[in-house]
Amino acid sequence: MISNIVLATDGSDHAQHALDVGIDMAAKYGARLTLVHVLTHDHPPEEMKRMVEVEHMADAAPVHNSEQGGISMKLGRALRIGYQEDRDGRAIVALGEKILKAATRKASEAGVKDIETEIHSGDYANCIIDVANKLDADMIVMGRRGLSNLKGFVTGSVSHKVSQRAGCSVLTVK
Ligand SMILES: Nc1ncnc2c1ncn2[C@@H]1O[C@H](COP(=O)(O)OP(=O)(O)OP(=O)(O)O)[C@@H](O)[C@H]1O
Ligand SMILES: [Mg+2]
Repeated sequence: MISNIVLATDGSDHAQHALDVGIDMAAKYGARLTLVHVLTHDHPPEEMKRMVEVEHMADAAPVHNSEQGGISMKLGRALRIGYQEDRDGRAIVALGEKILKAATRKASEAGVKDIETEIHSGDYANCIIDVANKLDADMIVMGRRGLSNLKGFVTGSVSHKVSQRAGCSVLTVK
């Protein structure tokens, strides 16, 4: 019944908790796990950007379609044009790839066999929903809050919008 899970991650602690749940479910059900990251164009977390730059990942960011170890990294042409120009943009792409690589490694080590990754650029919630629709996902797993984690709100705007508009079940992990 659950054979196709989409896991949305912004790299936050909340998304890490969601990842743990998504991995657990995928391992138990033998489901495909698709890890989705939407580039954090509006408010890239400064400390994370610096981390990427320190590691010289920004310059080394592989901004192309690649097939590595059976894991497909899908980066669209629009994304390349939009982000290749500026240094911050490259850091954001590198950061996204870093988040997905770490999540892929974790899922793989936990025994999930079928792992895919997708990086997109655009409205966060719409991109997550589009991926789920495209893949005919059974469930989206995501954090209830994310990177902003503003006090006073129980639910983040992305998890709220996805919960409201997705065509499949949505599990928001606390
Ligand atoms: N850029 C993103 N790419 C992939 N998943 C995301 C992205 N942003 C948020 N998410 C998913 O949505 C969850 C909730 O994050 P959300 O952005 O809604 O909360 P927030 O950052 O605390 O608040 P807000 O962004 O509304 O100020 C995250 O844990 C993650 O699973
Ligand atoms: Mg957010």
